[in-house]
Amino acid sequence: MELKWTTGEVRYFRLGRHALLAALKLLETKQGDAVLVPAFICRDLLAPIYAAGAIPVFYDVDRRLRPVALPEAQNVRAVLAVNYFGFPQELAPFRAYCARHNAALIEDNAHGFLSRDAAGALLGERGDLSIFSLRKTLVIPDGGALAVNKPEWRSRLEVQLPCSSRALPLGYRARYALSQIQRRTGINILLLSQKMVRLVRRFRTGEALPVSAPESESQLPANPEPHCRSLELIAKFEAAAEVTRRRTLYKRLHHLLAKEGVEPIFGDLSDGVAPYGYPFYADRNKADKVKNIAAGLGLDCVKWPDLPAAVEPLAPEHYQSARVVII
Ligand SMILES: Cc1ncc(COP(=O)(O)O)c(C=O)c1O
Repeated sequence: MELKWTTGEVRYFRLGRHALLAALKLLETKQGDAVLVPAFICRDLLAPIYAAGAIPVFYDVDRRLRPVALPEAQNVRAVLAVNYFGFPQELAPFRAYCARHNAALIEDNAHGFLSRDAAGALLGERGDLSIFSLRKTLVIPDGGALAVNKPEWRSRLEVQLPCSSRALPLGYRARYALSQIQRRTGINILLLSQKMVRLVRRFRTGEALPVSAPESESQLPANPEPHCRSLELIAKFEAAAEVTRRRTLYKRLHHLLAKEGVEPIFGDLSDGVAPYGYPFYADRNKADKVKNIAAGLGLDCVKWPDLPAAVEPLAPEHYQSARVVII
């Protein structure tokens, strides 16, 4: 299936992690090669790096989530630059580093589907390769994607995996049905359903929101095929409406949270940015306040990310106090 939202050559997967493994395979990553990754990252993303036989080398980011310095290392195969929460990462320092090391630039656009940078470039079209986690921003059962933007590498892509028609989880079917009713009526019924889901989850696991397990750092989930339903829905989503929805919610949150003195991670919402959420820094008390405000809009507020085990113990304060209201 051809995508209408990017000019890159695309393959679909179940998760963004599967897309990253495909990227590393396309780069012919060898045992012991280094892959530069920000230390401020969800631990799950390390699994495909290990699965490719590579070693993650961490770099730190500052409070605006820009790299502090990119460490010199041997045999750097790829460098990951993350468009955190859909806000464009400035790629010039990454490009310079990659040119020096003859490494590939992988743009991690898991959060930035449909978002653009200040020059109007679509995020996910800027790296040599880019990965997406479409399931984060669209109501689809699953969905990761790899886009190959460097024309001379397109022929290296393997054929699209056949899609899967495995049974859809009841939770997803309910969420999809509710999202359709909500779209038509404008009534926020997802809020009620989310409360119920959390209540059941808290009863079963002790946590209201899903937490990624420590093993997810080393274990890549099986079954990389995307669901056929995801592909159907990706082919017909309305891009302009989705961008407007996300920008409108961001501005609404900005207005409400500024009154509480909440510090956003990024300043204003620049033209073209389609945020995945409203990222901010807060201590526990303020985070609880934000959680209540977000819940009033039917939105989740989570601590992000679940840091890798090697990063967690010495993580700077801003890695610990980052939160996001998902929109
Ligand atoms: C920045 C970033 N990149 C990649 C991924 C991986 O996406 P997926 O969960 O679809 O494998 C995540 C997941 O949370 C993420 O936050």
